[in-house]
Amino acid sequence: MKILMVCLGNICRSPLAEGIMRQLLEEQGLSWEVASAGTGDWHVNQPADRRSIAIAKKFGYDISKQRARHFGKQMFDEADHILVMDRNNLRDVLKLAENTEQREKVKLFLAGDLEVTDPYYDDQLFEPVFLGIEERCKALIEEMKL
Ligand code: 4NP
Repeated sequence: MKILMVCLGNICRSPLAEGIMRQLLEEQGLSWEVASAGTGDWHVNQPADRRSIAIAKKFGYDISKQRARHFGKQMFDEADHILVMDRNNLRDVLKLAENTEQREKVKLFLAGDLEVTDPYYDDQLFEPVFLGIEERCKALIEEMKL
């Protein structure tokens, strides 16, 4: 199983989803692959936002070694599931899809048609965003194990 987490900058939300998911998978002995990317290219090769690194560290996850990547259409074939943080990401990723198989891989990360709020402009949002992502990662592992 290969999972790709996608947000806008690949420095706040999707690096959290990638790092949390990877650690949870390791803890459960699951050898699925997880990666992340952003629909925008401004931060390529940069580490995650220091606020995401800090909140992850507070809860026992190390995302400091991850580097931002730009979503490219070759990534459709490198992933089984492409999980996007919000509807803008959904639109931007689907624009690059070339067939039904690729389109069907793309879904919102959260259940219930919810979006992960972009915390970039509000320091206070990093903790609730982290907690929502961690909770969903745990649920996704349970769902996808079936
Ligand atoms: P992310 O957050 O999509 O969760 O990584 C953002 C990061 C950077 C920007 C916007 C959102 N930005 O405008 O640079």
